[in-house]
Amino acid sequence: MSGVLIAPSVLAADLGHLADEVRSIDRAGADWIHVDVMDGRFVPEISFGPGMVRAIRKATEKPLNVHLMIVEPERSLAAYVDAGADHLLVQAEPGSTVHLHRVLSRIRELGKRPGVVIDPATPIAWIEHVLHLVDIVMVMTVNPGFGGQKFLPEMLPKIAALRALCAGRGLHPHIEVDGGQDVDTARAVVAAGADVIVAGTAIFGSADREQAIADIRSAAA
Ligand code: DX5
Ligand code: ZN
Repeated sequence: MSGVLIAPSVLAADLGHLADEVRSIDRAGADWIHVDVMDGRFVPEISFGPGMVRAIRKATEKPLNVHLMIVEPERSLAAYVDAGADHLLVQAEPGSTVHLHRVLSRIRELGKRPGVVIDPATPIAWIEHVLHLVDIVMVMTVNPGFGGQKFLPEMLPKIAALRALCAGRGLHPHIEVDGGQDVDTARAVVAAGADVIVAGTAIFGSADREQAIADIRSAAA
């Protein structure tokens, strides 16, 4: 599949130079900017809130792909919209929200693109009845909470099954993959049906970010 989108994860950036880091990946060819919001409850770490999203928004015009690893995202959707998020991705697990259908509908009502995220242990069946509400389904290819983890190859059949389920219903959401992605995983995830690759360490950790993005893109093609 061609036309894969690359979404560098700002979690791996040098946060002391946030605006420069965001401008650097913008210039290097990022399609979307992935922003990992962690609240210390849904996942152990605390990362960014709406203030950081607002700061990132000022540094780029690329779509902000905001991944909410938080409890009760419904309480802060408006704050992230106000801060400049374009895509709001919520975790499907009840440990995040108990009213997934309502949250996804609300994101659409707020004029933003809804996305639903499933952790490695979460079955596709859990999101079967909300697929028609979303523009993006994101499959976690590591357990969420930290950058720099190793890709879980057992997620490949899950990506393929999800793509088949969507196609069978005439639905064509982006299928985004997040965690442990690099030049070595890109071909397999795209062959399985993904079309958006999030990568933190593999891009920000590279001395030549433009080359890193180009390498992932060409490995995926
Ligand atoms: C993990 C985050 C990922 C992470 C990816 O909880 O959702 O977006 O930043 O980082 P790498 O590419 O280093 O695995
Ligand atoms: Zn993420």
